Amino acid sequence: MDLTPKSMKYRHSFHAGNFADVHKHVTLVALLDALLRKDAGFLYVDTHAGRGSYALDPAQAEWRDGIGKVLGATPRSPELVRWLALGCPKPATYLGSPMLAAAVLRELDRAALYESDPVECAALRESLAARARTHVACSDGYQAIKALLPPPQRRGLIFIDPPYEEPADFERVGEALTNGLQRFATGVFCVWAPIKHLDDLERWVTRLARRITRPLLLSQLWRAPRDARASLAGSALLIVNPPWRIEDRMRAWLPELQRILADNSGAGSAVSLIAPPAV
Ligand SMILES: C[S@@+](CC[C@H](N)C(=O)[O-])C[C@H]1O[C@@H](n2cnc3c(N)ncnc32)[C@H](O)[C@@H]1O
Repeated sequence: MDLTPKSMKYRHSFHAGNFADVHKHVTLVALLDALLRKDAGFLYVDTHAGRGSYALDPAQAEWRDGIGKVLGATPRSPELVRWLALGCPKPATYLGSPMLAAAVLRELDRAALYESDPVECAALRESLAARARTHVACSDGYQAIKALLPPPQRRGLIFIDPPYEEPADFERVGEALTNGLQRFATGVFCVWAPIKHLDDLERWVTRLARRITRPLLLSQLWRAPRDARASLAGSALLIVNPPWRIEDRMRAWLPELQRILADNSGAGSAVSLIAPPAV
């Protein structure tokens, strides 16, 4: 009998560098860069960090439809060029969210990285052993919201990227966002979610938008029709308190990313700003 808890079975290595990873990591680096534009330090929290660095296995298929396609193209948008230079530091190596953050944070910034799988967490710790002002916690990342917010710097980016193996992850993300915003209303929160069916995503975002009284930016990239009920039709990022100019820039880089990654007739991308409800 397999007694492994369901959540322990997820290994991001199988998916690293796929089209959803590319969508999330280009956006993450652009958000970090927006916070880096000010001299004041900030806190980066990664609630579901993964192992940080991934070997792109020639036998695996998913990365070929993601980073593989970007490497075969010549991206022009500055955000794509910047992420590509950071995300593939050497051949066949792909960097995930904590390593991208570690590559760009300054001495005055702080990072708190949570990963609950002991094996993945040990690998992350090893990769970042020499790095100061970076705390790796091998525990439940949702706890970070209560433990760390608001940060003393009063500036921060909270990146929430669960595996969504359990439907409860959608509910937990909603709770993490509302709880986090009660503690730190001006923080930038970025949540990744799968698009399995457009209706499900829209219902989830609508429910969240009723609870959240801050500006929300929704970025979507899909490679199969969003009503196809595919296992992963597309990738969505919900950004609370989007930094200045991110929306405009996203409207430039996202269509280019779509052309590179998903050029079939069912593919598409969309950026929508959801204003806070009037009080
Ligand atoms: C989608 S992957 C993260 C990828 C990473 N954010 C990146 O962009 O490179 C999700 C990770 O969350 C971990 N995980 C699952 N439940 C968790 C929890 N409650 N707290 C912290 N980590 C968790 C999984 O082991 C997995 O490594």
